[in-house]
Amino acid sequence: MTRRHENKRAFITGGGSGIGRETALRLAEEGARMLVTDVNAAGADETVELIRERGGTAASAVVDVRERDQVRAATDLARAEWGGLDLLVNNAGVVTNHSFETLTEDAWDFVLDINLKGQWLVSQEVAPVIAESGGGAIVNLSTVEALVVVTSGTTAQPHYNASKGGVPMLTKALAVELAPKNIRVNCVAPGPIATDFFDYEGVTSPEAMEFMKQRLLVQRVGQPGDIAAAVSWLLSDEASWIDGIQLPVDGGWLTR
Ligand SMILES: NC(=O)c1ccc[n+]([C@@H]2O[C@H](COP(=O)([O-])OP(=O)(O)OC[C@H]3O[C@@H](n4cnc5c(N)ncnc54)[C@H](O)[C@@H]3O)[C@@H](O)[C@H]2O)c1
Repeated sequence: MTRRHENKRAFITGGGSGIGRETALRLAEEGARMLVTDVNAAGADETVELIRERGGTAASAVVDVRERDQVRAATDLARAEWGGLDLLVNNAGVVTNHSFETLTEDAWDFVLDINLKGQWLVSQEVAPVIAESGGGAIVNLSTVEALVVVTSGTTAQPHYNASKGGVPMLTKALAVELAPKNIRVNCVAPGPIATDFFDYEGVTSPEAMEFMKQRLLVQRVGQPGDIAAAVSWLLSDEASWIDGIQLPVDGGWLTR
């Protein structure tokens, strides 16, 4: 593992589990000081403990990405502890199990507010802090479901698809507006990843595995580390000429 994020200070949302935790661990191993935020305080604290056990530097903050005051309190903490921020990962995301017919207004608002509005709101608070440091990079979490509907039947999750479909365009718009501040903005679109995000038992049922095999060129479910590697690379100077893209990391899901 290189120390390519040495001296960098990173803010991550939803860092208390799954892809967010693995990404926080990887960035810390590569030298970044990590501000691990999550609506789940215990999860964020556990990630911080894991980072410290491995010799890294980290602090936690309770941040619901829908709450501007909480985001601001966290950026204030980063300023006070480390003098600023250089990197942001907008990772927090949710889904509820609703089809077009069963979808409620509450479920629509819940998913859209966290997955899409939350990425804008957190960026609006954190980008100026990154700009103060002379620039940096942002990575947003999208999904292959921003591009195609993933279902083995006839029902989809329209609110999730709509929320994530907005992420690549939000990413492009922010890339344009933040370029003069020397901040690159990209997004990563994972395929199916083994986390608590969905019912993993259901996903590993023989029927579901058969459905996935038809789509995946690499014949395994993705791991959080597959995504952490891509996020880390896009945040790094090795990707310094990459701006405004959506990078699928999906075992070939979108290829055919
Ligand atoms: N697992 C997959 O297959 C997969 C595929 C494509 C995209 N993604 C995306 O990756 C991201 C991470 O997903 P994951 O699989 O690690 O899921 P996860 O459920 O393991 O982690 C999501 C984290 O977000 C936090 N969170 C939820 N609501 C929040 C809020 N309002 N404010 C702040 N934090 C909040 C949760 O507490 C949790 O720690 C999500 O944006 C998800 O849409 C996941």
